[in-house]
Amino acid sequence: MSEIRESMSAEELLAAALAEFHPRIALAASFGAEDVVIVDMLMRLEPRARIFTLDTGRLPAETYALVDAIRDRYACRIEVYFPDAPAVEAMVSEHGVNLFYSSVEHRKLCCGVRKVEPLGRALDGLAAWITGLRRDQAVTRTDVAKVEVDRAHGSILKLNPLADWSWEDVWGYIHAHDVPYNALHDQGYPSIGCTPCTRAVKPGEDQRAGRWWWETPETKECGLHLPTAPESGKRGA
Ligand code: ADX
Ligand code: SF4
Repeated sequence: MSEIRESMSAEELLAAALAEFHPRIALAASFGAEDVVIVDMLMRLEPRARIFTLDTGRLPAETYALVDAIRDRYACRIEVYFPDAPAVEAMVSEHGVNLFYSSVEHRKLCCGVRKVEPLGRALDGLAAWITGLRRDQAVTRTDVAKVEVDRAHGSILKLNPLADWSWEDVWGYIHAHDVPYNALHDQGYPSIGCTPCTRAVKPGEDQRAGRWWWETPETKECGLHLPTAPESGKRGA
């Protein structure tokens, strides 16, 4: 009987999840503010906790610098997944290297090749994965639960321990624990993805206004986070 509960704090939930699933559990990290909070929590709980990142090949230099800073700080291993090279070659030969600006369809194709397919490989064999999703990040995320069943990925568990955290909570933790964070956050980037698809936001703009800024808010998901089902039936609130 699982001890993982929706009502748990982030640390409690991670501790219970590690106890139940490690090493068949991993954090998916793009090393935004939420992810570095979870990295810090995991490293305190289990120094060998698994962390993977999907290196799309188009990430900002600041993100690569942070990956190394995290490795140094925690002396941890970060599992890196690249896209399938022949698939990238075929895509950019056919549609151009910056295909994402020409249509939502092309943007989703690029995210599919560079992120979604590698995610499938990263999740292969896992019983659960952990993300930094929060409800107040986007209109597409208001229903995120801490404990979900990921039907798009073989019905493994998807854990979002910061689902109910605010942006202020995230930064309160980062400062309290002196956690390394992406330098772009200090340059007006609340949400950070690939370089060509991310820009700074203006004061008062939505947190994800700088992601795929040429699209409407409803289309701004890359396919990593497809609809899931809350685990409320089995695991309770
Ligand atoms: S995205 O789907 O729009 O790119 P976002 O940047 O908000 O997602 O990140 C949400 C969560 O998805 C992150 O906290 C992280 O768990 C996961 N994630 C996003 N991008 C990556 C990546 N490149 N590698 C690993 N995990 C990622
Ligand atoms: Fe491609 Fe942009 Fe998606 Fe990165 S965010 S995988 S560059 S479309």
